[in-house]
Amino acid sequence: MSKQKVVVTGGAGFIGGNFVQYMVNKYQQYDIFNLDLLTYAGDLTKHKDIQNKDNYYFVKADIADREAIFNLFEQEKFDYVVHFAAESHVDRSITDPEVFVRTNVLGTQVLLDASKNINVKKFVHVSTDEVYGELDFDPTTFFTEETPLQPNSPYSASKASSDFLVRAYHETFGLPVNITRCSNNYGPYHFPEKLIPLTISRVLNEQKVPVYGDGKNIRDWLHVLDHCSAIDLVLHEGVNGEVYNVGGHNERTNLEVVKTIIKTLGKSEDLIEFVKDRLGHDMRYAIDPTKLEKLGWKPTYNFETGIAQTIQWYLDNQEWWEQILSGEYQSYFEKQYSI
Ligand code: NAD
Ligand code: DAU
Repeated sequence: MSKQKVVVTGGAGFIGGNFVQYMVNKYQQYDIFNLDLLTYAGDLTKHKDIQNKDNYYFVKADIADREAIFNLFEQEKFDYVVHFAAESHVDRSITDPEVFVRTNVLGTQVLLDASKNINVKKFVHVSTDEVYGELDFDPTTFFTEETPLQPNSPYSASKASSDFLVRAYHETFGLPVNITRCSNNYGPYHFPEKLIPLTISRVLNEQKVPVYGDGKNIRDWLHVLDHCSAIDLVLHEGVNGEVYNVGGHNERTNLEVVKTIIKTLGKSEDLIEFVKDRLGHDMRYAIDPTKLEKLGWKPTYNFETGIAQTIQWYLDNQEWWEQILSGEYQSYFEKQYSI
């Protein structure tokens, strides 16, 4: 019997990259296709340990390129689609929203059409808790799958739009889909424009760490490998048409996160620099993962063990993030923080 084919879009990025490695190592019976445009956020060096495995393939393509995607899907006849590819950074969506609409909305629609055309067995759309908007600081309130979508940034608006398209392709055409909405991830290969890797890399270089506003905004942190196991479960066990929230109850203020990293690295809190707040900055995210837990998911990391392991990973893999910091990213950083 020929192997089943899983195409993972955005498999050169942070979460998609971790997911590709997880799947290639776990499932010999699947051929795993990494479909990625290799934007500034995509990098293949992270796959050096799997690139020669016979169940791993890479295809460079733009998900919004209808002809290329249709040709690829018709040629390979994928069984499963796991869709991570996106513009993912909120700050970039504030300075340049257009590419977010093109990739996140149009790109998703092209993938849905191509998937419908070859009758895939499942389309898992990896979305985000940010589509729900923000919560206040009442610690007893959480996002559930029933929370209305109220996205506040161009990024989350583009993700919410793509969620609606995925839902519509299920309702209208019967495409077998799931949507996952996860909280903030952290772990290996996190691009150093995001809070945790930005803080680790800057503290290690004895540089100031920019904290937006008063640092009291709350995020709910999940280790990326726990996100991967959640998607694996949804891919295999998710009920068609259902949404699953993913989160592990690890709420921290941004200031707590930054101080934990500084303390672990034995540096001074004088490195903290409060800077102008992000426009439309969401106050608090917090996930209720009960529905996914009922499906059988349990996270393996808490924030303390996960962050300690992640800091160690950044110490052990300095050349990976240094090569990123020395490239095109440097001019983004200077513009973003008006240096
Ligand atoms: P990332 O920015 O690290 O990676 C995105 C990947 O998509 C990159 O490899 C990039 O090259 C690729 N890509 C971008 N545009 C493309 C296009 N037009 N065609 C093909 N490939 C393209 O993102 P991430 O943080 O790994 O997030 C992955 C997904 O998970 C996103 O959909 C995001 O919305 C979602 N998500 C992220 C988080 C988080 O904390 N990072 C949490 C919840 C959900
Ligand atoms: O909640 C899930 C989302 O988490 C994903 O959908 C997004 O793709 C992902 O980027 C992430 O979004 P955030 O905006 O929460 O992540 P970011 O790392 O950019 O910021 C985390 C918090 O830290 C946020 O409150 C803003 C703050 N921050 C961020 C940066 C980059 C700072 O205080 N200083 C900074 O320099």
